[in-house]
Amino acid sequence: MVGMTSPKTAETTASRPAPVVPDDAAQARRRHAELSAVIEEQRWNYYVLDDPTMTDGQFDRLMRQLEELESAWPELVGPDSPTQRVGPPPGASLAAVRHPSVMLSLDNAFDYDEVEAWNQRLVHLVGQPAVAQSGFLCEAKIDGLAVDLVYQDGRLVQAATRGDGRVGEDVTANVWTIAAVPRRLSGGPDGLIEIRGEVFLPLAGFHQLNRQLEEAGRKTFANPRNAAAGSLRLKDPQLTAERPLTFLCHGLGLGSVPAERLSQVYQRLRDWGLPTSPETRPAQDVEQVLAWVEELGRRRHQLSHEIDGAVVKVDQLDLQARLGATIRAPRWAIAYKFPPVEVITKLLDIRVNVGRTGRVTPYAVMEPVQVAGSTVEMATLHNAAEVERKGVLIGDSVVLRKAGDVIPEVLGPVLADRDGSQRAFVMPDHCPDCGHQLRPERAGDADLRCPNQRACPAQVRQRLVHLASRAALDIEGLGERAAQALLADGVLSDEGGLFDLTAESLLGCALFRNLDGSLSAVGAKLLEQLEQAKTKPFERFLIGLSIRHLGKGVAPQVAAALGGVEALAQASVERLTEIEGVGPIVAEAVVEWFAVDWHRRIVDRWRAAGALAGPAPREEAELPQTLAGLSIVVTGALPGVSRDQAAAAIVARGGKVTGAVSRRTDLVVAGDNPGTKLAKAEALGRPVLGAAAWAELLEQGPAALIDSDQP
Ligand code: IVH
Repeated sequence: MVGMTSPKTAETTASRPAPVVPDDAAQARRRHAELSAVIEEQRWNYYVLDDPTMTDGQFDRLMRQLEELESAWPELVGPDSPTQRVGPPPGASLAAVRHPSVMLSLDNAFDYDEVEAWNQRLVHLVGQPAVAQSGFLCEAKIDGLAVDLVYQDGRLVQAATRGDGRVGEDVTANVWTIAAVPRRLSGGPDGLIEIRGEVFLPLAGFHQLNRQLEEAGRKTFANPRNAAAGSLRLKDPQLTAERPLTFLCHGLGLGSVPAERLSQVYQRLRDWGLPTSPETRPAQDVEQVLAWVEELGRRRHQLSHEIDGAVVKVDQLDLQARLGATIRAPRWAIAYKFPPVEVITKLLDIRVNVGRTGRVTPYAVMEPVQVAGSTVEMATLHNAAEVERKGVLIGDSVVLRKAGDVIPEVLGPVLADRDGSQRAFVMPDHCPDCGHQLRPERAGDADLRCPNQRACPAQVRQRLVHLASRAALDIEGLGERAAQALLADGVLSDEGGLFDLTAESLLGCALFRNLDGSLSAVGAKLLEQLEQAKTKPFERFLIGLSIRHLGKGVAPQVAAALGGVEALAQASVERLTEIEGVGPIVAEAVVEWFAVDWHRRIVDRWRAAGALAGPAPREEAELPQTLAGLSIVVTGALPGVSRDQAAAAIVARGGKVTGAVSRRTDLVVAGDNPGTKLAKAEALGRPVLGAAAWAELLEQGPAALIDSDQP
């Protein structure tokens, strides 16, 4: 519940309950797999779909829990753990490109104590005098998306999104349209230099864009970050050119700038025509850092663009180099995240929504309110127990929290505003869409579900929409409205008939008919899209089946391990839990799903209609393609690994083995007695890894170069 004297806008520190770390190894492994799957799924939603399904705060808390779990159970840290990777691999629509050097992320601090603790770690690592001599550079943390600009001899030759840190999406043509990004550097260095920075939409541009979209009757963006991500990843650069995107630099990748301090690097970048943020300030010690962070926090809503915190960096470059990086983030920088923003609005009503798996969720309908860059009018309340716990009544003034991101949260009522007109919410006991009696899945569950999975119109509609979503079969033209119309007009009774749709059957639905009774262009397009969907990879069907807990996080592994729907239907819980990332909860959900006869009939009907006909997933897909596209030379003896085995291991991970070192060699692995190839690699300045880093190289790819033992 929220205090009586809540100001209209308040900034609070989110409560961060200490996560429980299981003391049983099997439980810890299960928890790890589940947390990892949820985190990976959210990263996909956030980075690839630009459609996050949880707040930044919720995401950060899950990451924290995972980190604490891994520090108690270090054996759970694998190369694929979300703590070891900075984001999801690139999405399917833009070409994948490898960054010349790995793009790292930042470690987070959620309060000032954590910034001080970071400072203490630095002191512990290199001593107080070195930290004092360097000082810090404080910067605004711009809420946009990271891009990597590659300049060759002063010309912009490639621009890519961060992706998973190693491979991103090629957005060169789109970045060319951003006026703030120079295509040529004035007086820049010869050779290759990688400039990193943030592409974002200033607030004015964001509001203008949303107004235009609204006028055109199109979906608006929830916040400037999503709008920037969507605009940068458009397939047509001419459309990107119409979006008022801009750019600010915040670092370097490969290549160096003659300077001793980061602050001097920024001056050089500006000399070359590259913009840096005016919100950058040197600080001698952590007290000055925190004073500036505090001041920035007060001014954050007056800036021309959104920021979600501050980044504090060690200023002296040789000290940065001494401190180095972990696999995920540099030790010489920390991101301080601002606490979430709170506002007060009116709770007009509490309604319920029936989801695709039958869960019936109450949600708040509020007086629209502007918070952290977007207008909010709805927020989930999860279940009846949660409504009660929050203590909100319909008609209350409520405190709404939003952490500069998409999903808002109702915190509680403002008791001082109660006047007796408020009324309690009553959770329905029957499904509002089909009238079936609602019940919890298991005794004691807080969630109520509609058991009529097969025929409840809301559930079928939502399953269809999910099946057509970008993560699953990506069927344009099968959104909420089309699904609703197909079901209401009796053209479809469930998803089983989707691939049996024909021009003739679509004519039974007014939405797909022209006035003269012929099939509309939208209808023809839908049929064409369905034809294409039939050959989508098995993992996309797997995501689309709406099997509980089986989402994008684990579907690729399940598809690669089992190969096709027949094997999946036969798989036991034991077999499924052998698959990396699949815990008992997911495994049981899969087995339960296939035990239902009408579920199996859906799959049978799809196959009879020619769907599920995509290429069989390759076995190797199980091996992370850590060396994809890299040209590698192995020289000297690797203990316990023959030359052939080494070559096979590289090829299986997507790399190419070459015999001679050249400028095009990406990496040289030097074992015992390496001979002249090592000398040549050094002469050409090619990166060299020692035998001790072999296993790490296979697991992590070029990231093994960081923190590795150089021979
Ligand atoms: S430095 C290796 N500086 O925040 C360090 N990042 O949460 C790389 N960001 O991926 C980043 N403003 O996209 C840095 N002033 C700033 C930043 C900044 C925004 C983003 C960047 C990074 C993310 C990490």
